[in-house]
Amino acid sequence: MSDIMVTIDGIKYEAKEGEYILQIARRNGIFIPAICYLTNCSPTLACRLCLVEIDGKRAYSCNAKAKEGMSVITKNEEIEVERKAIMEVYDLNHPLECGVCDQSGECELQNYTLEMDIDKQQFAIADTNRPSHDWGFIHYDSSLCIVCERCVTVCKDMIGDAALKTVPRGGDALLKEWKQSAPKDTYAMWNKLQKSVIGLVSGADRLDCTNCGECTAVCPVGALVGSDFQYSSNSWELRKIPAANPHSSDCSLIYYDVKQTSIKDAKEKIYRLSSDFDFAPLHGGIRYGYDFENDVDKKNQKAFKKAVRFMQEADTIKFNSFITNEEAYILQKLKEKFGYKLVNDDAYAYKKFLENYRFTSGKSLYSADLKTIQSSNFVVSVGSFIKSDNPNAGFALNNAVTMNKGAGLYFHPIADPIVDGYSKNMLCINHEAGVEESILYLLLDLFGDKEKMPKSVVNYLKSFHKTTKKTITEVIKEQVKEIVKDEKSGEEKEVIKTISKNVEKEIEVDINSLYEVVGLEDNFDEKLTKLLAKKDNFSLIVGEDLYNHKRAQNLAKLVGLIERFTDFNLLMIPTKTNTLGVSLICDLDEKAGDKSVGYNEKADFVLSALGKGDLDMPALNQQEGTFTSMNKRVVPTNVALSYGGYCLNDIANELDLEAENTIDYTKELGSIEGFKKEKFDNLPNEFLNSGEENRGYLLEEKDFACSDDVQEIKEIKLGDGELIYLANPVMQFSPFTNKAHQLNEAGALYASNEFLEKRDLKDGSMVLISNKDAKLAIVVKLDTQINGDIPYLPTFDTKLDVIPFFKDGYRFAKVEFKGVEK
Ligand code: SF4
Ligand code: SF4
Ligand code: FES
Repeated sequence: MSDIMVTIDGIKYEAKEGEYILQIARRNGIFIPAICYLTNCSPTLACRLCLVEIDGKRAYSCNAKAKEGMSVITKNEEIEVERKAIMEVYDLNHPLECGVCDQSGECELQNYTLEMDIDKQQFAIADTNRPSHDWGFIHYDSSLCIVCERCVTVCKDMIGDAALKTVPRGGDALLKEWKQSAPKDTYAMWNKLQKSVIGLVSGADRLDCTNCGECTAVCPVGALVGSDFQYSSNSWELRKIPAANPHSSDCSLIYYDVKQTSIKDAKEKIYRLSSDFDFAPLHGGIRYGYDFENDVDKKNQKAFKKAVRFMQEADTIKFNSFITNEEAYILQKLKEKFGYKLVNDDAYAYKKFLENYRFTSGKSLYSADLKTIQSSNFVVSVGSFIKSDNPNAGFALNNAVTMNKGAGLYFHPIADPIVDGYSKNMLCINHEAGVEESILYLLLDLFGDKEKMPKSVVNYLKSFHKTTKKTITEVIKEQVKEIVKDEKSGEEKEVIKTISKNVEKEIEVDINSLYEVVGLEDNFDEKLTKLLAKKDNFSLIVGEDLYNHKRAQNLAKLVGLIERFTDFNLLMIPTKTNTLGVSLICDLDEKAGDKSVGYNEKADFVLSALGKGDLDMPALNQQEGTFTSMNKRVVPTNVALSYGGYCLNDIANELDLEAENTIDYTKELGSIEGFKKEKFDNLPNEFLNSGEENRGYLLEEKDFACSDDVQEIKEIKLGDGELIYLANPVMQFSPFTNKAHQLNEAGALYASNEFLEKRDLKDGSMVLISNKDAKLAIVVKLDTQINGDIPYLPTFDTKLDVIPFFKDGYRFAKVEFKGVEK
């Protein structure tokens, strides 16, 4: 896209060719009414309110692409008459229940009705009976629905589930005279509105989707709301606390919407989560998993003294990455002062991976962020169970392939119908577990610049190729002479005819043995050529399967080479909320010592934000501080709920560190490479009208001298038995999501229909899983959002000890299954 100038209401603005006029207007603070359009999704032209005049002709600004020299008028008399008439139709038969409607106060129908001064009604039509539906996490009241189709659009274009659609409403047909008398766009919009409501693609009576709840966020009226929030509070009573998603490394901008619990109980509680849906979608884990606070009113001095004593005696602090940068910094300071071993398995694996990646890429950090992925038109994902591991990376992948006429390759052993459904141009390759090294070499072979790549790697890649002879059948055209007899004269004539003929031909073909290892079909080359047509913006997403792999070190180096010698921009998904921050701040140890204190981890003495330990700690919705997001950004989070106990900073102060508040350490982070000396209170937390993420600050990156040293593929052995995988179901990320009242559930072995049928099991059956390291009797739960024969065990339920099955850290392990009578 090149830079151009367009004129809007007489003023010239810079723009990119092909940008929508509505986007240019919004970026420059020019108001054009618009209900149905969502940033980064396809325009549906459902509302027609964004009508403007472009070079003298009527056009819809959400759908009109900018060209050099265009002149746009955002309002004139004709446009205003049309917009007012549209609003009158929207208000027609809309139930007058604003007093109890959940959206009242933040309703776009209310706002536009007032903005456009609608005080009369020129239209009338009999209302249709439009019932309400309880769809599980969300409630749909079709009588409030204005059929803007935002919910349908966001679910398809952003989330990737395509679980909603318009269905017939059964409304009366419009009177013929309206076609003549109503303004043109009003009639068209009304005609459509009168025919539809929203329904479920599955035809079931409950949503069977990934339950992100984004459709409720984008609904401009009260038609789609969270079932739990419904009728619980007026929206204007809620106080919005800007924060960052504490459950996963997207660290998306969220608002905890809080107010007092009840008339009798002045203590605040979180009523719901809200967001800037135009710029940052949320997944269900945070949308519904917000109330994981540790309810502590008083300081427990006895437990605190014991904690300090334990800290003085211990040689190890075990922790995970559900902590802030400032807390990680405190732990690092304590290590420097007292020599603790800092043990954090996920950040350790990630840190090592990052270090090895640096070695061959020459970059301190991967190059992409979620926006880079969204703007790509060819995305490859390797080693991530993306829908569950990091739904926002999945949303970005779906958005890229859906909106940019894009295509992608998804490599993962578990077949995922949701990812499969992103686009027909998304090729899902369900390979064997353990062949990730071959996949990365394959990417280098297919996309690497062989002129620049190290000779040793080029030669190694050549070794997989072999030329062989193959017999193919070719259709050729051949001219033959034929004697034709004229029926009347009996005269014989020679004619030349062209006929098709099959001939066998021997040709030389290149066989790449990596294809077989990865499990690619014979026609993969053909498919890939089609997928790559007109693609010029490449991204690669890599995930957790690689960080804990037995060959992680070499995988990281290969990823570094891909970053250096291909056109792929790389996103290395940090495993947990602040894995990236912890891995940069802390000097981590592989093994624990003899006596350990655990921060939200099992240990001899446990500091717990879950409220089940020896000393209570505040949960992440009770803390201020920063996270380092997947977008390589240090973003602030704030206190939503009060906490009366001790925090990590209190213990650190007792051990001679000195800071009044934990956030005093925010500016101290500047002593660590990449971080800045910024005070917490100076960190912004918002999106600008242009969509720019004005949150905290970006980590500074730097280049290094790099090496070409990678190893050849080494086969890994997983032993005998059947495969299981370590993953959480969609919406669950940790014991913190599971503590939230809407998400609380018992963990199970999650399996596909195919798995159950093959073993004659049912949803709810018990199985005994065993291998040489562990044994567990567990309920099997049907997961309709996976296919194939590999079930998975979760980590979110603290009652299940599943980690011993995966002793060497790799997410796949071999086990034996036995059915167990209930
Ligand atoms: S449910 Fe809401 S978002 Fe969906 S079409 Fe109706 S009004 Fe629009
Ligand atoms: S909850 Fe999410 S996945 Fe389900 S229908 Fe709504 S937008 Fe789609
Ligand atoms: S916003 Fe353009 S038609 Fe609705």
